[in-house]
Amino acid sequence: REVILPFGLLREVDAHLKAYLSQKYINASMSSLSNVGSTTNDEGLYEQQEQLVQNSVVRERILRQRSLQMHEKQQAWQESPEGQKMLEFRRSLPSYKERDALLKAISENQVVVVSGETGCGKTTQLPQYILESETEAARGAACSIICTQPRRISAMAVSERVAAERGEKLGESVGYKVRLEGMKGRDTRLMFCTTGILLRRLLVDRSLRGVTHVIVDEIHERGMNEDFLLIVLKELLPRRPELRLILMSATLNAELFSSYFGGAPMLHIPGFTYPVRAYFLENILEMTRYRLNTYNQIDDYGQEKSWKMQKQALALRKRKSSIASAVEDALEAADFREYSVQTQQSLSCWNPDSIGFNLIEHVLCHIVKKERPGAVLVFMTGWDDINSLKDQLQAHPLLGDPSRVLLLACHGSMASSEQRLIFDKPEDGVRKIVLATNMAETSITINDVVFVIDCGKAKETSYDALNNTPCLLPSWISKAAARQRRGRAGRVQPGECYHLYPRYVYDAFADYQLPELLRTPLQSLCLQIKSLQLGSISEFLSRALQPPEPLSVKNAIEYLQIIGALDENENLTVLGRNLSMLPVEPKLGKMLILGAIFNCLDPVMTVVAGLSVRDPFLMPFDKKDLAESAKAQFSARDYSDHLALVRAYDGWKDAERHQSGYEYCWKNFLSAQTLKAIDSLRKQFLFLLKDAGLVDRNTENCNKWSHDEHLIRAVICAGLFPGLCSVVNKEKSIALKTMEDGQVLLYSNSVNAGVPKIPYPWLVFNEKIKVNSVFLRDSTGVSDSVLLLFGGNISRGGLVSCLIP
Ligand code: CDP
Ligand code: MG
Repeated sequence: REVILPFGLLREVDAHLKAYLSQKYINASMSSLSNVGSTTNDEGLYEQQEQLVQNSVVRERILRQRSLQMHEKQQAWQESPEGQKMLEFRRSLPSYKERDALLKAISENQVVVVSGETGCGKTTQLPQYILESETEAARGAACSIICTQPRRISAMAVSERVAAERGEKLGESVGYKVRLEGMKGRDTRLMFCTTGILLRRLLVDRSLRGVTHVIVDEIHERGMNEDFLLIVLKELLPRRPELRLILMSATLNAELFSSYFGGAPMLHIPGFTYPVRAYFLENILEMTRYRLNTYNQIDDYGQEKSWKMQKQALALRKRKSSIASAVEDALEAADFREYSVQTQQSLSCWNPDSIGFNLIEHVLCHIVKKERPGAVLVFMTGWDDINSLKDQLQAHPLLGDPSRVLLLACHGSMASSEQRLIFDKPEDGVRKIVLATNMAETSITINDVVFVIDCGKAKETSYDALNNTPCLLPSWISKAAARQRRGRAGRVQPGECYHLYPRYVYDAFADYQLPELLRTPLQSLCLQIKSLQLGSISEFLSRALQPPEPLSVKNAIEYLQIIGALDENENLTVLGRNLSMLPVEPKLGKMLILGAIFNCLDPVMTVVAGLSVRDPFLMPFDKKDLAESAKAQFSARDYSDHLALVRAYDGWKDAERHQSGYEYCWKNFLSAQTLKAIDSLRKQFLFLLKDAGLVDRNTENCNKWSHDEHLIRAVICAGLFPGLCSVVNKEKSIALKTMEDGQVLLYSNSVNAGVPKIPYPWLVFNEKIKVNSVFLRDSTGVSDSVLLLFGGNISRGGLVSCLIP
C-alpha cells in the first residue's frame, strides 16, 4: 500500500511473498497426498484415488462384477415399455446403421475419425455403442469412456439425455464433469466433460490410466483447447497402445484430422436430410422486389386522421426508403461481381452492415406472408443484435397478427425456460421464428426448421499479433459454416435458405474457419504447457495441427514474464504454478491470489467475477443519460469502474437481505441476472482458492483489509498491468495513450469517460477492443507509487526492481 510499503520494505515483502506462495503450494500438495483414501468431491484427488484403487487386482474383479450387473439392469430397462420406445427411437437414427462398422473400426484402429450430419446420433449414440459392446462381451476390465464437449452447457445436456435414454439417473453409468460441477458415481463408465476438464486431468495423470476410450467431439470447431488436447493425445498414444481415440466432426474436413494422426481411417455416417434450396442476394432481391409494393400500400395509412396512424405511417415510410436504398445498394454491389475476381478483395467490396436488419425484416415478411408453414431460423452475429431485432420485430405491422408469431432468441446466455420453447413445436398456425447465434449451427438441433436466413457473419474474437490487441468484430463465416447453416433447414421436409449476400461473396469465403489457436492470445495456453511440463512452448506449439504464428507465441511468453508467471528461461515461477491451478485467465488469477495475500479478498473477488461474467451496469439505448448518472453514483469520484462495480454489488447484496434486490436493480439500472452470476462465481472462486490452499478454511482473516480502497486499487493494478495507459489532462479534455496504440478512447459508459480531469497519471484496464479506434472498456486510476510497486513482477518488487538494480 502507498502508506505501509515504502521502498525500504520491499525486500521484506518480496521474501514474504515468496515464502507465502511456496508454503501454500507445498501445503496444498501435501494435503492432496494425505487425503488419498478418504472420500472427496475434489476432482484431482478423486482421480488420484481412483487410480490407486484401480491398480489392485481385487478392484478389477469387482469392476467386472459391477459391469455385468449394469448390463443386466440395462437389459431389464430395454424390455420395459418406455425402454422399448426409447430403443426404437435410438434405432431410427442414421448412426444405428453404422453401429457395427463403427465398433469394428474402433477396435481395430487406435484412432478413428467419424463425421456425420448434425443430429445423426454421434454424440449421444456412439459412446453408448462402445459401452454396450464392451459390457456385452464382458471381456475383462470394464471400459471407461471420456467424451469431451467444447461447451459446458452441451456436456451437461448430453449426459442428461444419454442417462434418460438408458433409463437411469445421472451419476449411474453416465456422468458429467464441468468446471466446479459434476456428477459421478462408482459405476460411471461414460463421462461427458468439457475439453478443459480433460486437460486438467492430464495435469495429474499424464497417461490417463484406467481410461479406455477418449472421444473428442465437435472437432470441426477447432477450439483452442481441442487443438491443444490433440497435441497432447498424439504424444500419449504410443505410450498407451490400448487407448482408443475417436474424433467426431459434423462437417467433412475429416482428412485434415486423419492425416494429422498418420492416416487414421475415416468413417462417415450418411444422414438423411431433405434438399434445401439456396438463394443468394441476387435471387432474393428479384423474388421479393414486389414486397416494396406492399410498403407502398402502407402509404395509404398516411391519409388516416388519427395521429397514431400517421406517426406509424411516417416510421414505415422511413423504413421503406431505407429498404429501397438498401436494395439499390445491394444490386449495385451484386454487379460488382462482373469485375471483382474471386479473392478476399471482393469480400471487402460488399458490406452487409449497410443493409443490416432491414434485409432480414424484408425476408421475414416475405416468408410469413407468402411461404408455407414451418419454423424460421435466423443466424445473426451476437446477442445484442438479436435483442434489438427482436424488439424491432415484436410489433412489426407486416408480420401480421402478433399472436400468430412466436419470436424467440437463442444464444449462450438464454434462460432455460426459453430454451424449451425453442425445441417445442408451436400451435398450428403459429409461426416460430428463432433468432440465433452460430450456436444453432451444430450444438443444438431445432427439428421443425424449414426456413433459414443466414446473415453471413459471426462475431468472433480475432487477435492482431502485430500490436497485441484482441478485436471483437463480426467477420465472414466459412463455406463450411454456410453449408451447415443451410442444412438446418432440411431436417423434416425440403427447406429454403436465404443467404443475405451475393453468390460471389460466398465464393470468396474461406473453406473452413480459422482455428481459435490462430486468432486468440495464447497466455493461458502457454501457462498450461509449462505446468504440464511439455517442454519448450514454441517447440510444443509447432506440433499443432496448424501451428500459431511465432509472433503470437512470443507475445504470450513475454506477457507471462512481465506479470511474473515465467522467469527469463521460461520456467514456471511459484506464482506461475499457482496461476496454472486456477482455471481463470492468468491476470484474473493473479488478482485473486494477491487479494488473498493482502487480505482484501471480498472486493477483489467481486472485481474478478465482474470481469469474467459481463458488465452488470445496463445501458438502455433510450435512457443512456439516466443510466450513466446511476452508475456515476457508485463511483464516488474515485475514478474506477471496478470500485463502482464493488459498491454496486455490495449494495445489491444488502438490498437482497431486505428482499428488495429487484427494486434496487431497477432503480440503479443494474442487471439482477448478471449480479446473480457474479455472486455464484464469487462462491466458486472461494472454493477454488481454498482448494488450491491459498485461503484458509477459516476465511475471516482474508477480509481484514477489505475496506481499504487504496489496497484494492493496488491489487487491481497488479492484475491488470500491463494493461496501462497514460493520462494527460489538457485544458478541456483528457488525452489517453498506450504504448502500442498511441491515442485510445474510453467507452462512454466508463465512469472515467467525459470527466473534466482525472487526478491519476495512469489508468489500468482489463480490455481494449479495436473497432475503428481502440477503445478501453473498464478502467481504474492508479498513482505512480502503486504502479511502481504493484505493476509487473510483484514478487520481485514490481516495476521498481527495474529501476533499482
Ligand atoms: O451428435 P449429433 O449431432 O450427431 O447428434 P446427437 O446429439 O447424438 O442427437 C441425435 C438425436 O437425438 C437428435 O437428432 C435428436 O433428435 C435427439 N436428441 C434429443 O432428442 N434430445 C437431446 N437433448 C439430444 C438429442
Ligand atoms: Mg453432437
